[in-house]
Amino acid sequence: MKPGFWRDRWQNGEIGFHRDDVHPALERFWPAVAGGAATVLVPLCGKTLDMRWLAERGHTVTGVELERRAVEAFFREWGVDPRERERTDGLVELVGAGVHLVPGDFFAFRPDIAPDCFYDRAALVALPESMRPDYLAHLARCVAPGAQGLLIAFEYDPADMDGPPFPVTEAELRAQPWFAVECLDRRDVTAENPQLVDRGARGLREAVYRMTRFDRPRGTG
Ligand SMILES: C[S@@+](CC[C@H](N)C(=O)[O-])C[C@H]1O[C@@H](n2cnc3c(N)ncnc32)[C@H](O)[C@@H]1O
Repeated sequence: MKPGFWRDRWQNGEIGFHRDDVHPALERFWPAVAGGAATVLVPLCGKTLDMRWLAERGHTVTGVELERRAVEAFFREWGVDPRERERTDGLVELVGAGVHLVPGDFFAFRPDIAPDCFYDRAALVALPESMRPDYLAHLARCVAPGAQGLLIAFEYDPADMDGPPFPVTEAELRAQPWFAVECLDRRDVTAENPQLVDRGARGLREAVYRMTRFDRPRGTG
């Protein structure tokens, strides 16, 4: 992906990935993931309404998003006037109504206190295969040992379409050393994604995983 890819998408309003509703898998599976968890990390968060849903259920939400215009739009569209403050990792955050949004590169984000949960929808699949191991390693470093997360991935034949979203198989997820992986659901979502069908995707499936951070990476004893 070229530098500026996401900036151009936000600048030109080409944000077909953004949903006007809360993701059904979040409503359905979050209780099985979060338990009594308080703090939730949402990497590559865009302006997803899912963060509002989480905050309205009492979670303190931290989202990290490259594009500041997305962060500002999230609060503006919610009718919340955030205050800005500096963070110890050198980034800033906009804070309002229990949501902390960090405009910046997720790979530069270092939480002071590791969140005990995470939510990845359209984050891992936004990244090409070459970046995904680093993303998962950084995510693992950011959250507490034992932290659980919900991860939603697309599956399709890579010959059909260029990402993003990129297809991520269960085998790829299981090969990483940081998280235990449990598939909670898998279903055909072709009819729900006409814009991806127009780009060539056929047989599009969405898989929902519960990810549990190992105490130490698998294979390191
Ligand atoms: C496909 S969108 C998904 C947004 C959101 N998760 C949702 O469900 O609507 C991916 C987002 O990740 C952001 N992004 C890409 N690379 C990033 C990075 N290195 N750090 C932070 N955000 C990033 C993009 O700007 C874009 O808004």
